[in-house]
Amino acid sequence: MHFDFADVSATDRYRLMASAITPRPIAWVTSQSAAGVRNAAPYSFFNMMGANPPIVAIGMMRQADGTHKDSAANVIDTQEFVVNLVCEADAQAMNLTCIDAPAGVDEITLAGLATVPSLGVAPPRIASAPVAMECRVLQTQEIGTTTLVIGQVLHFHVGDAFYDPERRRIDTPAMHLVGRVHGTGFYARGTDLFELQRPTWADFVGEK
Ligand SMILES: Cc1cc2nc3c(=O)[nH]c(=O)nc-3n(C[C@H](O)[C@H](O)[C@H](O)COP(=O)(O)O)c2cc1C
Repeated sequence: MHFDFADVSATDRYRLMASAITPRPIAWVTSQSAAGVRNAAPYSFFNMMGANPPIVAIGMMRQADGTHKDSAANVIDTQEFVVNLVCEADAQAMNLTCIDAPAGVDEITLAGLATVPSLGVAPPRIASAPVAMECRVLQTQEIGTTTLVIGQVLHFHVGDAFYDPERRRIDTPAMHLVGRVHGTGFYARGTDLFELQRPTWADFVGEK
């Protein structure tokens, strides 16, 4: 089957891409309005884009009425946000924070989430998140109905239980992070792994 996207509706383009580009990591974004109302919401159009500088990108689509989602409005207004990563134990709370609550509702309180003050930005981080990244906006770009947010990571927090300072390694499986898959509610665990060693040209051609 082939789709010329010029002839495919935006809804179907979304369905095709979001069902195929999986699993996606979830940025559980905490942000704060200029008036100080705290917000939390999950965004799976998210990834790391580089380490020098350390950058993350998030795609925030507009609401059906064309207005920004609260997270996008907050990020544009304040230029700050925190990306919290989602472990399986937090999945229910993460899902609750995707609720379409009015802008004045503090979704962090709504979901009963404990927070820790951030070091370099105003929005707090989620205490139970295995990893939280305090970010400052480098750029936002309005592309069609998407706000592409590019943020620079200022502070990286990882739970002590998941970090070995001697080896300078994160124990990824121990964090039990979940990813977004297909449909309205399917998620993946980071289990059932397999390993591949990266090839080198020297090995490939049998050089000594
Ligand atoms: C797991 C998950 C991932 C989501 N990813 C995105 C996304 O990448 N972009 C987006 O615009 N909305 C995404 N949503 C929907 C938003 O979370 C939802 O619209 C939410 O109400 C936005 O909240 P806000 O207005 O407080 O920012 C996702 C929802 C879930 C449950």
